Formats: sequence, structure tokens, C-alpha cells
Amino acid sequence: TEVMAGNQERTFIMIKPDGVQRGLVGDIIQRFEKRGYKLVAMKFKQFDEAHLKQHYIDLADKPFYPKLCKFMSSGPVVPMVWEGKDVVKMGRAMLGATNPLQSNPGTIRGDFCIDLGRNICHGSDSVDSANKEIALWFDKTELASWSMCTGDNVYE
Ligand code: TYD
Repeated sequence: TEVMAGNQERTFIMIKPDGVQRGLVGDIIQRFEKRGYKLVAMKFKQFDEAHLKQHYIDLADKPFYPKLCKFMSSGPVVPMVWEGKDVVKMGRAMLGATNPLQSNPGTIRGDFCIDLGRNICHGSDSVDSANKEIALWFDKTELASWSMCTGDNVYE
């Protein structure tokens, strides 16, 4: 993985098929943009079940694994890479708890969904898994190198 300036880090955020179908793509992206995080990569595409099985490989022994991978490959998703201070932890906080019934209002899941199997978004749970997930979903050449025009207004 490449070296990033100071306290910058990267996370992998994905809008699931249910989030796409419910028209929530813009809202979810907007929350990360407004917070001040930087979009580094993004796709809009349907992926096959084998790819989703690899993405969720750590859950392979869970009873919900086959259904989860099948659902995740049932329609287009929006995989993204976001960059900024503490973005792995803050990304999870912005998404809310895995089970939407335990997600606080104000979070993406707490505002938009109810069911565990339809929780509309994914976010890496550690810097380690972020790096693995970014490498699985994106080629290095797909990670954009650019500067936001926020000047010194997001970071002092
Ligand atoms: P997990 O990695 O535990 O949660 P998170 O997405 O917050 O990292 O689970 C992956 C996804 O699997 C989760 O977002 C929703 C789905 N899932 C179920 O369908 N049933 C379950 O019992 C659990 C724990 C998760």
C-alpha cells in the first residue's frame, strides 16, 4: 500500500443493491463529501457471486453467507474508496450499527433501513481489511490522485 500524508487513511465503502434500488446513492455519497472526506475511487457495476464470496470470505462459515453473497450479486453496487483522517472508524460510525434496529438516527442505516439483511451499505471494519478490500475491488490505476479545493478549511 502506498504512503499517505500524515494522518490520512483510506477505507472501502460500498452501496449495496438495496441502497441502489432505493435511490440512496446520492445521499450516501453526499454525507461523505459534506463531512470533508475525499473520494478516491468509485464504480457502478454488477459483480458476480464469486467476487462477493471473496469479499465476505471471513464470514464463509456463517449460515447467512450464501444468501448474503447471492443478494450482493443480484444487482449493481457502488464500491468506493474514501480518504481522510480516521476515515475507517468514522466511516463505520456514519454507517451505523450492522443491525439497523440498533443504528442511531442520524446514521445512514439509522435513517434509511430496518432489516439486517437489507442494511444498504458496507464499510471496512479496520485499516487492515480496508487495504484488503480496496485491493480486491480496485486496480491501483483506478485510484485517483487529486486535490480537493478545501484549502485549510477541513484540516488545520
Ligand atoms: P458483518 O461483517 O458481521 O457486518 P458489517 O457489514 O457491519 O461489517 O456482516 C456482513 C453483512 O452480512 C451485514 O452487513 C449484513 C449481513 N448479515 C446477515 O444477513 N445476517 C446476520 O446475522 C449478520 C450478522 C449479518
